[in-house]
Amino acid sequence: MLILGIETSCDETAAAVVKDGHVILSNIVSSQVKLHAPYGGVVPEIASRAHMENIIPVIQRALEEAKVEGKDLDAIAVTTGPGLITSLMVGVDTAKTLAYAWGKPILGVNHIEGHIYSVGIRNLEFGIRKNIELPAVCLTVSGGHTMLVLVKEWGSYEVIGETIDDACGEAFDKVAKLLGLGYPGGPIVEKLARGGGRQAFSFPRPILNQGNFNFSFSGLKTAVLYQARQIKKMDKKIVQDICASFQEAAFEVLVIKTLRAAQKFKVSTIILAGGVAANQALQNFFKRSLSVTDCKLLITDFPTDNAAMIAGAAYPRALKKDYDDWHSLQADSNLKID
Ligand code: KG4
Ligand code: ZN
Repeated sequence: MLILGIETSCDETAAAVVKDGHVILSNIVSSQVKLHAPYGGVVPEIASRAHMENIIPVIQRALEEAKVEGKDLDAIAVTTGPGLITSLMVGVDTAKTLAYAWGKPILGVNHIEGHIYSVGIRNLEFGIRKNIELPAVCLTVSGGHTMLVLVKEWGSYEVIGETIDDACGEAFDKVAKLLGLGYPGGPIVEKLARGGGRQAFSFPRPILNQGNFNFSFSGLKTAVLYQARQIKKMDKKIVQDICASFQEAAFEVLVIKTLRAAQKFKVSTIILAGGVAANQALQNFFKRSLSVTDCKLLITDFPTDNAAMIAGAAYPRALKKDYDDWHSLQADSNLKID
C-alpha cells in the first residue's frame, strides 16, 4: 500500500511516500524558516505564496526519491486542518488535482492525528503500533498547538485540554523575538538555557492549579517581557538565565498537567509529539517525572511538521477503503479531532 502524503498546514511544504503505514520511502520538507525569520513568526501571506511555488517540486522530489510514479500510488493523503487556511488550501487543492488527474482515492487527515501517529513510525517492524498500550495520553506541543488528547484507540480521540491563548512553541518564538535571539525561537532558547539557571528568575506557572487540563502561555511570555525590561544591562549570562527559567516554567506546567491527565484517565502510555518535543530538557523533565510511575513515555521520531506522519495516519483508513470524495474535501482551519 503506497500512500503519498502532503502537508502544508503552516510553514513547511512537505511531501512523503510511505509504504504500509510505516516504511518511509521519502520524506521531503521544504522549510520557509528564512522567509519568516525577519518577522519572528509565520506570516500567512508569505507562507501560502511559498507553498504555491514549492508544492509541485517537493511532490516531484518525494516521488523521485521513493522511485515511484503517480500511477503506482494507492492513495493520496493530505492535511485538511487545523492550521492556516491559506496554507492548507494549497495542499488540499494540489491533492485534489492530482487525485483527479491520476484517478486515485484521496484521504483528508487531521494534522494533530498526524503528530500522534508520528510516534514509532520509523524503522519499525510491521505491526509495532499494536504494541503501544492504549488508551494513551498524547501531548502535542508545537508552534500552532498545545493539546492533550486521550487516544482511546487509533482513530478514536478525545481532546481533554488545550491552550486558551498562545501555543507553547509560539511562546518560545515570542520570547526569542523579545530577547532579539532569532527565529524559530525553540532551538535557540533550548541551547542558551543549557548555560542558565532554571531558578534564576521566578516566572509564573500559568493555570497550573485550575483543576483542568488547559494551558496558557501568553501571560508567561508577558512576564518574561516585563522582567527583561527591568534589566539595565543585558549580558549573555542573564539571557541564559531568562531562557532557562522561562523554559522550566513552561515545561513544569506541561509535564505536571500531562501526568495528572494520565492519572485521571488511568493510562499507562504517554505520547510526546510536535515541534517542542524535540527539546531535550522537556524530554528529560518527562523522563525524571515518570521514573516514579508505571507510565511508559513514547517520544516522536519526527517532532516538526512533515508529510510522512500524514501518509502514516491515513493508512488505517486506506486499508478499509474509507476514502473521502475529492469533490467535497475542503480545508478547515479549525478542524476538530474528536
Ligand atoms: O510542529 P512544528 O514544526 O510546527 C507546528 O505545527 O507548529 O513546530 C514548530 C515549533 C516552533 O514554535 C519552534 O520554536 C518549536 O516548535 N520548536 C522547539 C524546539 N524545536 C522546535 N521548541 C522548543 N525547543 C526546541 N528544541
Ligand atoms: Zn504541527
